Amino acid sequence: LSSTEVDLSAIEPGQAIKAIFRKQPVFIRNLTPAEIAEADKVDVASLRDPQTLAERTQEGHENWLITMGVCTHLGCVPSGVAEGEVKGEFGGYFCPCHGSHYDVAARIRKGPAPLNLQVPEYEFLSDTVVKIG
Ligand code: FES
Repeated sequence: LSSTEVDLSAIEPGQAIKAIFRKQPVFIRNLTPAEIAEADKVDVASLRDPQTLAERTQEGHENWLITMGVCTHLGCVPSGVAEGEVKGEFGGYFCPCHGSHYDVAARIRKGPAPLNLQVPEYEFLSDTVVKIG
């Protein structure tokens, strides 16, 4: 199966893009320091799928949140990537199909989805290029 290389250099803090990996959407988000702080202050034990932001990012690249853009409920594509799209009550992503709200670390916070948005395998080839898969 193929991998996908993505150039991150044009993604400003607070912005995200949608890439395609194995025919599925991948969300790549450049978290702001405020979003990182917000994600870190959440009591992980209170989460449905308990994971810290650090567990969902790579050391040295903690601002890059890379997840599949596939709702873990029934597979719709959540909104919240492009400017002006609904991000839901927790400022991350929102799945309009049945109302799942994901936070800035793409962790499920409200609604029927059982799990956080999945983090695919990836590696940084440089500070601005990531290889997914
Ligand atoms: Fe996303 Fe049901 S598919 S909430």
